[in-house]
This record gives sequence, structure tokens and C-alpha cells, in this order.
Amino acid sequence: MSTQLSSGRDPDHRWRDWAEQRPATPGPHFDNAAAGRSATSVLRATCDHALLEAQIGAYVAEELASPVLDAGRAALAELLGVPPEGLAFVESATGALKALLAAWPLEIGDTVAVAPSEWGPNMEAFADRGLQVTELAVRDDGEIDLEHLRRLLATSPPAAVHLTQVASHRPLVQPVAEAAELCRAAGVPLWVDAAQALGHVDTASGADAIYSTSRKWLAGPRGVGMLGIPETWWDTLKIRVPAMAEGGLPVVRLLESHEAHVAGRVGLSLAARQHLELGPAAVRLRLSEVGRGTRASLEGMAGWHVLGPFDSPSAITALRPTDGQDFDGDPSPPDRRTRNPDYRRCHRSRPPGDERPAAADQPAR
Ligand SMILES: Cc1ncc(COP(=O)(O)O)c(C=O)c1O
Repeated sequence: MSTQLSSGRDPDHRWRDWAEQRPATPGPHFDNAAAGRSATSVLRATCDHALLEAQIGAYVAEELASPVLDAGRAALAELLGVPPEGLAFVESATGALKALLAAWPLEIGDTVAVAPSEWGPNMEAFADRGLQVTELAVRDDGEIDLEHLRRLLATSPPAAVHLTQVASHRPLVQPVAEAAELCRAAGVPLWVDAAQALGHVDTASGADAIYSTSRKWLAGPRGVGMLGIPETWWDTLKIRVPAMAEGGLPVVRLLESHEAHVAGRVGLSLAARQHLELGPAAVRLRLSEVGRGTRASLEGMAGWHVLGPFDSPSAITALRPTDGQDFDGDPSPPDRRTRNPDYRRCHRSRPPGDERPAAADQPAR
């Protein structure tokens, strides 16, 4: 969250404090969609746990940290709208989807419905699981057409609908709560990729499975993700009880790897608590102001087209070059490329206007 690119409303200085709680940067940080900046306290908690592992042993340290980890699961479960027992720490959003697809009762050849803006690697995960993909109709702004979804669910229901709630490549937010209602009425599960949504927009949408990652808008450590599944599905999940599993664990918890970045889970637990203390609704409002303000201030900049939807609550701002700039290396025009040290100091997400069709590391549309 930049303290500069906003409408200036910061009456209680909470956004300035938010920035000051992080290590100083060499320049503005525009890279939250890739990885947010953790608070120093989160980095310290992560580091302290790693030190404790070296002092008293990794498994004893993990045992000692279990109240912190349970509180972290509960905080994340609250944000994702699932019960605490339905929350598992995994290694990433990608890992969460893989675990979900392995555990869900699916047949090879089943169909999953997605929006054209689906995150490319998710398409690979569906293909790897032997699923067919059907495309949902969207409106001009890229949001799914709910009336089309309702008809699809009634006439040829897919095995599941999968929505990426907040796109990473432009300010597109899908109406997941409305979609969840339609899917529930039709008896079709809705899965939500909340990698860009958690800590950014409201993620307690009533989905049948929701997963995310630590490092983006919650600004937790890297190497941690999470998967949430509400109770309705617990009996139908196909999860083998690992030989090393503790007895009596909730079924979704069996998806957690025994060997894991526990220090990162400790750091994420603190980041989640800090987010709840700051006030998720206030953060959402602030991020939407920052996004709208940023897009408005960049509109009309020579050589760049600001992608919409303009009025989206997403803080993600995406620019498409209109002057043939090579932004894989540097977005400035060729004659200024190597003379732009400020740009090089300024961290940014992958070029957001690059909307190549779904491929390994790229979203579709
Ligand atoms: C929309 C979306 N889904 C999934 C992912 C993958 O997250 P992870 O790197 O934690 O696996 C990303 C990462 O940028 C993303 O933007």
C-alpha cells in the first residue's frame, strides 16, 4: 500500500504506520501482486522460530508453536469463510490447488468451468488431473455473466466451477459470492483461487473450496499457502491418512505436509492476526482507493494504456505499452532504457499488459 498514491485519507495514520512497520525500501514498491513486504515483526517471528528450531530441535519447536499455529489457522479460516478445522497450511496456492484436485471426488474427463481470465498454471493443473475445461461467458469488463452461469448450471452442469477471484494481470474481480449462491442452488461446487484476493477483497464468499498464498496481500513469508474447505465436503474428500499423521486430526489438516516451512507458518499466523487487528474492511477500502487513484493518475500517460475495469475494487494497476516498449527488460522507450536508474530501483510486478493466452506462467484474458 503506497502512502502517496491515494486520496490522502489517513486520519489515524494507520497506513503510514503500516508502511513504517516494514523495512525501508530503496524506492517505491509496486510489487504486492507478486509478493508483499512483510512487517519487521513478521520477519522477526519467522526468524525467531528458525532460531528456536536450531536451539531446541525442529519438532520440539513446532510443538511449542502449536498454539500460535492454531490461532493462525483460525484467523485464516475466518478470512476465507471456513471453519478452523477446515483450514490446512500448504506450501503455495499452486500446491493448494494440486492438493484440492487430488482430494476432490472427480473422474477423469470431468469438466470444470472457468472464466477466460483464468490463471494459466491453474489450467495446467486441470489438464494434469485429466479435467476438461469449459469457458464461462463474461461481460465486456471480464466479469462472469451470472445469468449465463445460472443457465449453464441448469442445462449442462460442470463437475465444478473454478473462479480466480482477483486477476493478477488487470483490475478484475469476479463476483464469487453471487456465483457461490448460484452454484449452491445447483449443487455444483465452486472453487476459488484467492491468491490475489486474500487480504485484498472479501474472501468469505461461501465457496466450497478456497485457497491462497501467504506472501501477497497479507504480506506473510514466502513458501506458505493455505486451503480451506467447509464441513459439507469433509466426508467426501479422498484423503489418505499419512502413516506419520497424529491421530484425531481434522480431515483437511491431513493435507498439511509433515515436513514444512513451519517458521513461515508462524510468520503468516502473525501477519493474519495483524491484518485482522488492522481491520480487513478498512484495508479493502484503502486498497480500492489506492487502485482507483493510481489508475486515474496514470490515465493519459503517453505511451501507456491503463487497463480496466477502471472502477474495480482491486488495487492492481495494469499498463499496456502503446509505443512498442520492451518491458521484459525495461518499460522505458529504447533510447532511455539504460538511463533509468529510478525505474530499476522501483520494484514492479511482471508486465501487467502482457495477456498472452494461458501458458505456464501467464493468465489468459
Ligand atoms: C491468481 C493467482 N493464482 C495462483 C498463483 C500462484 O500462487 P503461488 O505462487 O503461491 O503458487 C498466483 C501467483 O501469482 C496468482 O496470481
